[in-house]
Amino acid sequence: MVLRFMLFVLFLQTSCIYSWLPRKCFIYIVEDLNILTPCRETTNTAICDQITDIKEDLRGLPTNIQSLCIRLDSDLHYAGILAPGSFSKFSSLEYLKINGCFSKISQEAFTGLLNLTSLTLHFNINVCCEASVDFSGLSSLKSLSLSQYSLTLMTPNVFDTIPQLEILYIENACLKDLSEVLCRLKNVKSLKWFYLWDKDLNVLHFPNCSFFNTSDRQRPTVYNIEKIHLYLGSVKHIDEGALKVLGNLWELSFGSRSDFLRDLSLIGVENINSLIFSVNVLNIDELCYAAKLYSIKYIRVYYRTLNLPATPTNVSIHCKEVVEIDLDKWLDKKVLLDMDLIFHIFSNLSRLRVARHVLKSNDFKSVCLSLPESVKQLSIMHLNANTIGKIISHQFMCFTSLERLQLTRSNISSIEGFAFTGLDKLKELNLCDNKLSRIFRDAFSGLNELMFLDLQENPFIQIESNSFGHLINLQTLLLGDLHFPPNISQIKLDLSDIFGGIPFNLSNVFISSGIRPMQLKFGDVTLNQSLNLQIKGQYVTVEDCDSPLLTSVVKLQINAKYILCGKDFIGKYVKSVVKLEFISAFSDNIGDLSVINELVHLKTLNLEDIDLSKQPNVPIMFHNLTKLRTLILTNCKILFLDGTLSKDFKALKSLVFIAENDVNILQNFVEHLSSLKDLRLYGLRLLCSCDDAWLVSWVKDNRQVQVVMFNPTMNGVQCLSDNGIDVLNFVHFVQDNCSLNIEFALFASTTAFLYFFIFVVLSYQFAGQYIKPFYHISSGWFREALHKDGRQQYRYDVFVSYSSKDERWVMEELLPNLEQRGPPFLRLCLHSRDFQLGQDIVENITDSIYASRRTLCLVSRNYIRSRWCSVEMRLGTYRLQVEQKDILILVFLEKIPSRLLSCHHKLARLVKTRTYLDWPLDPEMREAFWERLWNKLSSDKNNWTTL
Ligand SMILES: *[C@@H]1O[C@H](CO)[C@@H](O)[C@H](O)[C@H]1NC(C)=O
Ligand SMILES: *[C@@H]1O[C@H](CO)[C@@H](O)[C@H](O)[C@H]1NC(C)=O
Ligand SMILES: *[C@@H]1O[C@H](CO)[C@@H](O)[C@H](O)[C@H]1NC(C)=O
Ligand SMILES: *[C@@H]1O[C@H](CO)[C@@H](O)[C@H](O)[C@H]1NC(C)=O
Ligand SMILES: *[C@@H]1O[C@H](CO)[C@@H](O)[C@H](O)[C@H]1NC(C)=O
Repeated sequence: MVLRFMLFVLFLQTSCIYSWLPRKCFIYIVEDLNILTPCRETTNTAICDQITDIKEDLRGLPTNIQSLCIRLDSDLHYAGILAPGSFSKFSSLEYLKINGCFSKISQEAFTGLLNLTSLTLHFNINVCCEASVDFSGLSSLKSLSLSQYSLTLMTPNVFDTIPQLEILYIENACLKDLSEVLCRLKNVKSLKWFYLWDKDLNVLHFPNCSFFNTSDRQRPTVYNIEKIHLYLGSVKHIDEGALKVLGNLWELSFGSRSDFLRDLSLIGVENINSLIFSVNVLNIDELCYAAKLYSIKYIRVYYRTLNLPATPTNVSIHCKEVVEIDLDKWLDKKVLLDMDLIFHIFSNLSRLRVARHVLKSNDFKSVCLSLPESVKQLSIMHLNANTIGKIISHQFMCFTSLERLQLTRSNISSIEGFAFTGLDKLKELNLCDNKLSRIFRDAFSGLNELMFLDLQENPFIQIESNSFGHLINLQTLLLGDLHFPPNISQIKLDLSDIFGGIPFNLSNVFISSGIRPMQLKFGDVTLNQSLNLQIKGQYVTVEDCDSPLLTSVVKLQINAKYILCGKDFIGKYVKSVVKLEFISAFSDNIGDLSVINELVHLKTLNLEDIDLSKQPNVPIMFHNLTKLRTLILTNCKILFLDGTLSKDFKALKSLVFIAENDVNILQNFVEHLSSLKDLRLYGLRLLCSCDDAWLVSWVKDNRQVQVVMFNPTMNGVQCLSDNGIDVLNFVHFVQDNCSLNIEFALFASTTAFLYFFIFVVLSYQFAGQYIKPFYHISSGWFREALHKDGRQQYRYDVFVSYSSKDERWVMEELLPNLEQRGPPFLRLCLHSRDFQLGQDIVENITDSIYASRRTLCLVSRNYIRSRWCSVEMRLGTYRLQVEQKDILILVFLEKIPSRLLSCHHKLARLVKTRTYLDWPLDPEMREAFWERLWNKLSSDKNNWTTL
């Protein structure tokens, strides 16, 4: 009867403890983590994924969050009903974004969100979400964004009910007619910006609002919206004056079948600030005519064929107001673009972009000879994916206002000396992704103001010394991939040589040798400011690690098999580094990374693809890092996370652990992490060990740290069993095998042990032999009687009863001081070390108590709170009473007010009747304390034998 009831109680408790689902929400906290969040990146932001039930899944979130982003479970296209007041407890919410679709959104779904200023409803699947939404009550809402939400089911006045609506963004609303939107805007007076994206809308009818209400035939009058952005598809038919009600357009994008000029006149608006369109044949004279007619300032046009006017002068008058043009040819055939003509027609440009044309290499030079005035305003020029070939000298002589020049993917294979002379204001030069193989000394001559130079993705085989010497204001140099001839086995780069003196402001350097080894030299230079250094390559060695330049490095990013100074990891020489990232490729010989423990300024550390199991000093590798805030370990083959590792992680806020191997995570690992807020365990697979059992309850109950686990299988965390083959569900494993340390045990102990004691007492009374504790007690008694003066055998000298929260004290103080003192040497029994796995916990306790000569209770507040400890103590005192021997010793780890003690009658009585020891606060007294304790524990040891 009693047993059955016990089992019933246990069953009830286990079934509610183990509903351990992966957490779906986390709070966005960490600012220096480079994780793109799908939400507003401010503090007080919560992000929830795979939500199936809004109320239930958001239950644990703090109510004061200001931003909330929710993604519904993507498998559920129509995720049920959004209930009334779904968010009402988050009354501080200012920003709400929901990805997904509901079958129905209740009328009062958003009630209570009085501070909400921005609401986004996006459905990412290419069908329309047919849910009607009611926005009334959102009295602060200023910005509303709808994507793939059909407007059809919403009331005609759906937007009128939002009194402060200023920004409305509608994307793919499955419109049959533009009227569906325009008529709903009729009475929205506060609207300032209106965006409409609808690539499928290719017929523009004159707005007719009578489909709402047959008696209301009133046409909308011209709206007064400051900025209207319309992005339409390829337009088939336009009613005359179709968009006249909109007055002016800020930006219009559409595809024109043939005659874009006619299309524009049918649309019927007055002004268009920016025009983006595609057309098969572009006649520049028509374009300029349109520019004049609609006061267009910015043009971006995609075309197949281009017709330039024969006499550009008249055309250029029409295009006088155009300040930005973007000429983008479709990929099919090559079109030779005459830059002379372009600058003749567009003579007032401040920005020019030309993509996918053939340009002649001396084009710009001839512009300077014939039309120097027309490029005077130009400050940005992007020439992308053109065919240029060569940059000849003095090419840009007259481009005196140019600040940014991009010549990317343009097949540039050489730069003549003095190529950029005249670009006195140039700040940014991007030559990325070309065919440059050599840089000569005078290539960059004259670029005195240049701050940014991008030379990435060029197959360099030679850089002359002093090539960058002219760039006295350079801040950023991106250089790679060095590809020196194959007969040079190792690429050598001497930074001070290619500069001939490091620029005063240099603060970002990227050097890549691609997949080849490289030897670097920095030179005897000192920087006044800090340097971000990024190195990519295969095996990288540094010749002069004592270079003062390295002491300026605050951010070091390495993507190479190794980077060594002699045999040492470079870390040793970058003592000022604040952010360190090292991505290796599981290379051997990376040097001893434990020098990381000298980088005491580190705030962010990111190690990836490094085999830490081969490192000799992992336990001390992260010591001294008391300022570390973010630690990211990706695939680092770390087998063990324990307290020695995390000892100095006082400031650690965020830990990301991505592992492909199986790990053990011990509880003392997290005990030092007092600032931890965000723990992410991706791909986690544990070893099936009770050492990790604490995780289950810790993850569930921890309020301070949010834990995000992502497991590829999503069936919860798995573990690898001892045989190395079976993969088990970790929670089930813990449930079946580890009764100690986990919440389950503590939880169950209240009731279970009540019945256990009833059992003991009953069994004692009725002499039932089948209960092991009773067997022990009685056998202890019998032993006592039989061997009164004989020698008795014990497995341990001392059974230590303590709270696992005091584990650190036990491991760091008690063990070394007791087990290593002697002879004779004491053998201690600790539950965390010596309990037999798989055995019942009470059996373990009674076994251990009776297998030990004495029981040592370490009394602390934690101990008093711990139910297990009180069980241990009761069993201990029980034995004391039976055996009448001096077997129980108390040590007080801290002062405990008698008020607290008096609640524990047994303990209080023991304190009164027995001597006990206090752990001295004064370190000088401690030696004497250990001496006394050891004497007490080892007294009459010689009368006993220890197995
Ligand atoms: C709403 O915003 C106001 C002004 O910003 C603020 O004073 C108030 O506390 C906010 N309400 C809630 C519930 O957070
Ligand atoms: C507007 O639509 C209604 C039917 O929806 C039609 O009867 C009416 O003629 C249309 N008005 C105009 C001006 O096109
Ligand atoms: C239809 O329009 C009339 C007059 O404009 C208005 O009184 C009535 O409420 C409207 N009905 C609906 C269902 O919108
Ligand atoms: C250019 O404009 C002038 C006057 O505006 C006109 O007389 C002349 O015919 C035009 N030339 C062309 C080729 O359109
Ligand atoms: C950092 O810690 C290690 C071992 O914990 C120690 O040997 C070393 O001296 C410390 N280094 C600094 C710079 O404090």
